[in-house]
Amino acid sequence: MEAISRRNALGIIGGTILGGTIAATTSFAQVTSQKRFEQSGGPFSWTPHVLDAQECAPIAYDGYWENGWGCAYGAFYSIVGVMGEKHGAPYNSFPFTMLEVGKSGIADFGTICGALLGAASAMALFWGRKERNPMVAELFRWYEQTALPTYDPGSGAKGIPGKIPTSISQSVLCHISVSKWCYETGLTEKSKERSERCARITASVAIKAIEIMNAKQKGSFIAVQADPKSIADCRQCHAPGKESDIFKGVMDCTPCHSGGEHSANKFVNHP
Ligand code: HEC
Ligand code: HEC
Repeated sequence: MEAISRRNALGIIGGTILGGTIAATTSFAQVTSQKRFEQSGGPFSWTPHVLDAQECAPIAYDGYWENGWGCAYGAFYSIVGVMGEKHGAPYNSFPFTMLEVGKSGIADFGTICGALLGAASAMALFWGRKERNPMVAELFRWYEQTALPTYDPGSGAKGIPGKIPTSISQSVLCHISVSKWCYETGLTEKSKERSERCARITASVAIKAIEIMNAKQKGSFIAVQADPKSIADCRQCHAPGKESDIFKGVMDCTPCHSGGEHSANKFVNHP
């Protein structure tokens, strides 16, 4: 709007408003020599490089703390940023701070764990969905089923040094992952321990993602993480072509549909 009204203003100075409008249209046509949806290099065209997961892990951890840019930034930088540090262009031209949006499950909404978003986004620079989805699934299933964090920064700790309690989230969602850990440990969501936990999970996720990406590049990637039992059980009927084809996704159903203490009605008779 601003640019157009400036051009219009220039048009008025030069003579008529119409003159300004024509000038604006011409310059738009000139800069759009690229065909729609065409991408320089083609789709998924950047070349990945093998990385040293142990070298990248502390970078993921530090990235989490860097200006508070958080988990998605840390995980993504430890992969694509390190490729940039080692190999220069095009990796180093990426505007890494874009990944800050993933912090706290995307803009504080507690949806997908940002570390997973960062790692999956890094994979997506190099592989389209046919190849990428099994890699992402391997990472996500591992996250659902692993007691996290697995990473310990040792003397490099920036929040809380020493041991941190772990928990199995059964979920890739920031909300469930964090809230369950806080419930089990009695620590608050805004505690330093919780930040330290998420920084360490950022490094844990980076290590796993890099192992998967390295194996993919070497042609040795095989998915080893099994689906949780609920997938086979519930998707007997809640799947395409089955009795109740109304369900989207492949997340573990257990945390939300088990009818346990945590998924019961909290709007009545609740403290
Ligand atoms: C034997 C088939 C079958 C299996 C197995 C099954 N469902 Fe269902 N489910 C249905 C049908 C049929 C409906 C009715 C919804 C519809 O009309 O599509 C339903 C409805 C639901 C609903 C919405 C209504 C309600 O009752 O709450 C939820 C949520 C749901 N199922 C979750 C699950 C989960 C989680 C599992 C695994 C633990 C599961 N279902 C396993 C057949 C099944
Ligand atoms: C993160 C929590 C979560 C997970 C994981 C999850 N669901 Fe749900 N699911 C929900 C919520 C919330 C709704 C909406 C409930 C409503 O309609 O109020 C829903 C809706 C559904 C519905 C539609 C019927 C309804 O009640 O609206 C089905 C069927 C269903 N889920 C099955 C599954 C199955 C099968 C899985 C695992 C493969 C699964 N869900 C995983 C939370 C979850």
